[in-house]
Amino acid sequence: MSPSDTTPRYSVPGLGVRKGGRVIELLQPRLHALNDLALTLKHIHWNVVGPHFIAVHEMLDPQTAAVRSMADGAAERISALGGEPHGTPGALVSERTWDDYSVGRADALAHLGALDLVYSGVVKDHRRAAEEVASIDPVTEDLLIGHLRSLEQFQWFVRAHLENGSGNLIQAGASSEAEAAEATAPVRKTTGKKTTGTKRTAKKATSAKRTR
Ligand SMILES: [Fe+2]
Repeated sequence: MSPSDTTPRYSVPGLGVRKGGRVIELLQPRLHALNDLALTLKHIHWNVVGPHFIAVHEMLDPQTAAVRSMADGAAERISALGGEPHGTPGALVSERTWDDYSVGRADALAHLGALDLVYSGVVKDHRRAAEEVASIDPVTEDLLIGHLRSLEQFQWFVRAHLENGSGNLIQAGASSEAEAAEATAPVRKTTGKKTTGTKRTAKKATSAKRTR
């Protein structure tokens, strides 16, 4: 393992600065992903409209609080390892590897379809980081596993709204948030509800990178 600019001057006892630096390097993108997710959840909380407004609006606040707490845990672990957590909006935007959430004012299914994709990106990258860190630092692995337990439960809450009678997700195969939002349109039509805003935002949206 070669030293990187995340190598701290000291780290937790028994780990060493090189390994500590690698763990910091793995944790920083997870911190950005969690801060981004917390903001995205609030964005949806504010922009969801339609007949399922209150259910989704209220479901997202406990998720936001939990994700903020996960971000705090990741940042404080970076500090404990002797590193410097980057928590500013500018650092988040310049260092992240994905696009901004792309759905604006839209109904519940459109947002949940897009949010499922967001959770998939965060969970996949969290799992990858947990796997790599397992052989270096079991304490950080434990932190990430704790995050994953909740993140995967939250994604289930989202997916439970998107499953059709055959047990499939109605937006399965979508490769962008806009596409996922649009894929929920047939379900909205069968319930006779108006698809406020979804088409308009889908057209304007840029496709999101999948990793978070
Ligand atoms: Fe609120």
